[in-house]
Amino acid sequence: MAATKMSFRGILSAVILLFSEGLILQGPSSPLVAQLGGVLRLPCSVETPLPLDDLEVEWRRTDSKALVHLFQEGESRPESQSDAYRDRAHFFTEREIAKGNYSLLLRNVTTDDAGTYSCGVYTNEETGEIAVEIEAIEHLVLTGADHAVTAYVGEEVILNCSVDSHIPPEEVSWAKVDSDESHMLVLLFQDNETYPGDSSYQGRTEFFTSEIPKGNFSLRLKDVRTEDKGEYICKAHSGLLSANTTVILQELGLSSMHILVLVLCCSAIIVALVVSAMILLDVKDITQRALRMHYVLVFGPSVLMFTAFVLWGVIEGFLGEVVICSTLNLIRFILLFKTSLYQEKLPEIIKTIIEKSFYYEYIIVVNVLFFVIFYSVWSVGRESKAMALMFIMYGSSLHIDREGYIRV
Ligand SMILES: *[C@@H]1O[C@H](CO)[C@@H](O)[C@H](O)[C@H]1NC(C)=O
Ligand SMILES: *[C@@H]1O[C@H](CO)[C@@H](O)[C@H](O)[C@H]1NC(C)=O
Ligand SMILES: *[C@@H]1O[C@H](CO)[C@@H](O)[C@H](O)[C@H]1NC(C)=O
Ligand SMILES: *[C@@H]1O[C@H](CO)[C@@H](O)[C@H](O)[C@H]1NC(C)=O
Ligand SMILES: *[C@@H]1O[C@H](CO)[C@@H](O)[C@H](O)[C@H]1NC(C)=O
Ligand SMILES: *[C@@H]1O[C@H](CO)[C@@H](O)[C@H](O)[C@H]1NC(C)=O
Repeated sequence: MAATKMSFRGILSAVILLFSEGLILQGPSSPLVAQLGGVLRLPCSVETPLPLDDLEVEWRRTDSKALVHLFQEGESRPESQSDAYRDRAHFFTEREIAKGNYSLLLRNVTTDDAGTYSCGVYTNEETGEIAVEIEAIEHLVLTGADHAVTAYVGEEVILNCSVDSHIPPEEVSWAKVDSDESHMLVLLFQDNETYPGDSSYQGRTEFFTSEIPKGNFSLRLKDVRTEDKGEYICKAHSGLLSANTTVILQELGLSSMHILVLVLCCSAIIVALVVSAMILLDVKDITQRALRMHYVLVFGPSVLMFTAFVLWGVIEGFLGEVVICSTLNLIRFILLFKTSLYQEKLPEIIKTIIEKSFYYEYIIVVNVLFFVIFYSVWSVGRESKAMALMFIMYGSSLHIDREGYIRV
């Protein structure tokens, strides 16, 4: 009776061994994707827990056969790990192993971690093995410009920066690298919003909003100024990932507006020389000659130079300089008439205008000058606000008397 029982059990276990195709292991349903520097779980588990004493779990790379992690004789064996995975690959807990969860935790993922792994589970009776694939290690790659970019003052330029990854970056910033290696923010994209950078770039920079979903974070810099020349850095972040690329904005050429300014300045000289020469040869009456000369010198070069100054200021965007220079230029008209040798020969209307405007011009110039100085000092910083106020107090204490002398 007992013998039959024994043999029955023996036959039963032999049948089970014969028909079992090893352990059924559960792995991931699809290849895994990890983030560079991130943490990744490589799943591997059995339905019914196995006794720990004769259990062996072995994670290996199928390509290099490197041992990733080993569980043997009831404990983890970190000493047998291959160097590439030392301190990076762990089982979850002893409790998870007891429950039949042999998943591996891989930290500080590197690009070399992509590949196929095997999770082998061995007991005295059964064995099982599955393959787990890490298909891709995501990382941000930024592409900038392949060569330095040339720009023209007053015109616009596009600085390339595109993000090549399936993950949309959380933050992309453009900054200018100053001579002391410090960065000045030019434009920022964060949480789907665009934020302006330093005040010197405000209103002159933008992203191509419709291009952002395609990963094109190129910067459009309008109204390029001479001081914009230099190195720009485009940086992107997404979770743990970050990347950067630089674009050099080089040697700024002369734009059509600059050429116009040059032409205006040159014609001022030509007008003054040629017209004066013509008058000298043509007009015999010395008084008439002097008067005409005066008109030419007042209206020719002065008007041309005045226009050139205004244009220059518009191109370069220096409001203070434009205001001062054009005001000073305006007063030259009056001064040139005021110092005329033949004032009494001038038409009545011009004489009256000169008389009236001389006084007011000075007031305007002084006020404009002080306003510009005040404004530039005020906008530098908090400490300079007091200095700016002192300027204003000093300025308001100046008086111009009827003879045109400035008195305090
Ligand atoms: C993983 O990265 C963290 C921080 O990034 C670092 O402190 C740690 O030493 C790294 N561990 C290994 C094993 O490289
Ligand atoms: C294995 O353990 C980890 C950590 O507790 C858990 O996230 C994972 O879902 C577990 N897997 C299974 C199949 O139970
Ligand atoms: C910027 O990107 C565009 C489109 O890819 C390309 O045609 C152009 O040459 C790039 N500019 C630079 C300076 O690399
Ligand atoms: C970001 O903006 C785009 C377009 O405005 C929108 O389609 C997208 O859903 C937004 N994403 C987030 C995370 O708000
Ligand atoms: C980004 O978009 C702008 C505007 O369409 C285009 O001029 C530029 O070449 C694009 N840059 C890249 C790198 O595709
Ligand atoms: C730019 O990226 C390189 C690595 O690609 C890194 O060494 C450098 O610190 C980064 N620069 C900045 C300003 O983030």
